[in-house]
Amino acid sequence: MNDAEFVVVKNLRKVYDNGHEALKDVSFSVQKGDLVCLLGPSGCGKSTMLNMLAGLLQPTSGDIRFAGKSMLKVAPKDRQIGYVFQNYALYPHMTVRQNVMFPLTVGRHKLAKAVATEKADKYMALTQITDLADQKPGSLSGGQQQRVAIARALVQEPKILLMDEPLSNLDARLRLKIREEIRALVKNVGITTLFVTHDQEEALSIGDQIILFNDGRIQQADLGQNFYLEPRNYFVANFVGNPVIDNFKVTLTDGQLVGSDFKLALADLDQTKLQPNLPDGDYLLSVRPENIQPVASGRLRAQVADVELIGRERILKFMHDGQQARSLVNLEVPIKIGDTIELDLRLDRVFLFTQEGTRVY
Ligand SMILES: Nc1ncnc2c1ncn2[C@@H]1O[C@H](COP(=O)(O)OP(=O)(O)OP(=O)(O)O)[C@@H](O)[C@H]1O
Ligand SMILES: [Mg+2]
Repeated sequence: MNDAEFVVVKNLRKVYDNGHEALKDVSFSVQKGDLVCLLGPSGCGKSTMLNMLAGLLQPTSGDIRFAGKSMLKVAPKDRQIGYVFQNYALYPHMTVRQNVMFPLTVGRHKLAKAVATEKADKYMALTQITDLADQKPGSLSGGQQQRVAIARALVQEPKILLMDEPLSNLDARLRLKIREEIRALVKNVGITTLFVTHDQEEALSIGDQIILFNDGRIQQADLGQNFYLEPRNYFVANFVGNPVIDNFKVTLTDGQLVGSDFKLALADLDQTKLQPNLPDGDYLLSVRPENIQPVASGRLRAQVADVELIGRERILKFMHDGQQARSLVNLEVPIKIGDTIELDLRLDRVFLFTQEGTRVY
């Protein structure tokens, strides 16, 4: 075992009793101390993955290894994991301190009361809930309850922390705050963490690595920035990015990509990134809104249908080939609804996909 393979998932499949294949041949590894986000739309298999890591679900086939050792025959309580669920599941009749201490007061790993209290106090301080120690969960806010759940998961000093959408019950502003706290905390403790979310911005902001799932398969496992700059397929390009990417239907003939009212020569693209010998036919040309900009004279002409202000920038929305497209511009650009503008694409930043979604540029 090396540190790069602290958590290893190998050819993992899960077929539920009703025959539904929730995970299909999933393999990845997590480096010791990293915070990895499992990202993907609802139903893609994130919770199924986490529950198998925790040992709450048995895989249909494949292997899970922690620190080089297969976990398939290891009971959940012996896997040295902490688990934070989406609903915090605190014990309502116990105080915050009793909730945090609870895992240390039961089972084989039971500790003396003084030791358990000391550990609980340490993790309550780290999660900033010391002041709440004697209150009951019912009198706490959502964010405070979430911190209690995290302290309770950490108090056993697990090797791996699993978190399943831990912030989804919180309002937007509190989510931003707590996610920063979680990142600081797990980095401080140095614990290897797998964090499930369906929110791409959350994943980009806190993950050392992101593993993006769709329909039970990994679409891309990578550093956050690479989902943006080098998406592996059409799904990834469209899932990551806000505002979402613009997609234009094009047809390749005679070395030209022909859209509804624009043309682009394949020869103008970076040939080192282009898949050679592309057959003629239909493709999708995708470009992030910041890479399609108003210019005096450009490849595209469009009328601005709407302008949306998002803080320091504006999104210009226009229709193209029956589809809405967007250009992200600086706040000061003096373009209004109804203006007819010309736009150009940054050719080193466009992507080309086959109809099946495979990237060819
Ligand atoms: N016990 C079960 N029996 C049959 N199918 C299930 C079972 N649990 C989950 N599934 C199905 O497996 C797929 C993956 O479910 P899972 O809960 O892992 O998704 P998820 O990515 O966590 O979604 P969400 O973001 O909504 O929580 C879904 O299609 C779901 O309906
Ligand atoms: Mg889930």
